[in-house]
Amino acid sequence: MIFPTVYLALTTSVLVTAVSSIDIDTRSISAIYAAAQKEQGVLQVAYGGDEPDQANGIAKAFANQFPKVKVNFTTDLSKYVEGRINKAIANDELYADATILQTLHNFDAWANRGLLLPYKPPHFDKIWLSLTRADGSYIPVFGSHFGPFVYNPSVIPAADVPKSYADILDPKWKGKIVLTYPNDDDAVLYLFKVIIEQYGWIWLDRLLQQDVQWVRGTATPGEILVLDPSKKISFTSFPAANGWTFTPPVSDVYTSWAQSSAIFKHTRLPETAKLLQAFLISEAGQNVYIQQGLPTVRRDIPGSKVTMADDTNTEYVTFHQFMRDRATVEAFRLQIEDKVGTAQGISPLIDGVYIPRY
Ligand SMILES: *[C@@H]1O[C@H](CO)[C@@H](O)[C@H](O)[C@H]1NC(C)=O
Repeated sequence: MIFPTVYLALTTSVLVTAVSSIDIDTRSISAIYAAAQKEQGVLQVAYGGDEPDQANGIAKAFANQFPKVKVNFTTDLSKYVEGRINKAIANDELYADATILQTLHNFDAWANRGLLLPYKPPHFDKIWLSLTRADGSYIPVFGSHFGPFVYNPSVIPAADVPKSYADILDPKWKGKIVLTYPNDDDAVLYLFKVIIEQYGWIWLDRLLQQDVQWVRGTATPGEILVLDPSKKISFTSFPAANGWTFTPPVSDVYTSWAQSSAIFKHTRLPETAKLLQAFLISEAGQNVYIQQGLPTVRRDIPGSKVTMADDTNTEYVTFHQFMRDRATVEAFRLQIEDKVGTAQGISPLIDGVYIPRY
């Protein structure tokens, strides 16, 4: 949905004015809710994801707690959301009021151009500050990772679960691996980068001899494991059903980041957008993601299965650094694509491979 707006500040040469430091919002969540109720309209939130129901958990929890304000979450691949937002910006239009994405470099670029509304919701001081910008231009929402092995423990005994990315090259896994095209998702691309940095390109050559099923989307491999009993393992996905689990490699480095959220400065509903930010990092909002098995971004809430503080072989900030260097990202993507081939298939949101979860 595109909303035309008049904002002259958005023309090509934007003056980046010094961002005055803002304070953490000291209002209670009910006071922010009261302010949001004075606004008219539906807050449009562009949500990065690769199955249509991925925002449902947070959307339902928000609607239950704040029934008098309307928020419309629309999910699509972060890289396409990015493109639509940037196209709207170029036309001085507003694509969404707020966005929650994986493509973290966008937040820096938009903040540098003065396009975001800095806001520090209550509990801002409780989040891992390395995951945010000190000015509150965006906030981390939940931890995410690719690299842990996804499998069914009733099918694969603990002793057989790979302990490293070298183990996945064992001939016993031939024909049983499902992975996301690294050239179709930058977080998977970064995982391949850290693995190849450790094991060399020979690792990829040998992986390609394992008759891997390559698919689009990071939910898809976990879903195929459930739907096709001949497939047994992935490390670019997450469990798609009860009974499935994931285990990180023992010491190999894997990829993680904090999916992050920002408000566009030209939102027509700034208080509703602030309410959303406040909810996302509230205990109630964090618990939605903890229940989905995702690490909390707050230091003061007991974490989920894999917590940011406990992880030893992943760092939540390095993917963001990788994403900022677009030339390196694109060069590596082409080197991978040369070996793996171009991503085949329609959007994972409509490809018919789907196990509803939320
Ligand atoms: C929600 O967003 C979608 C996608 O932009 C749009 O088609 C739909 O009309 C929106 N619904 C509401 C109630 O705003």
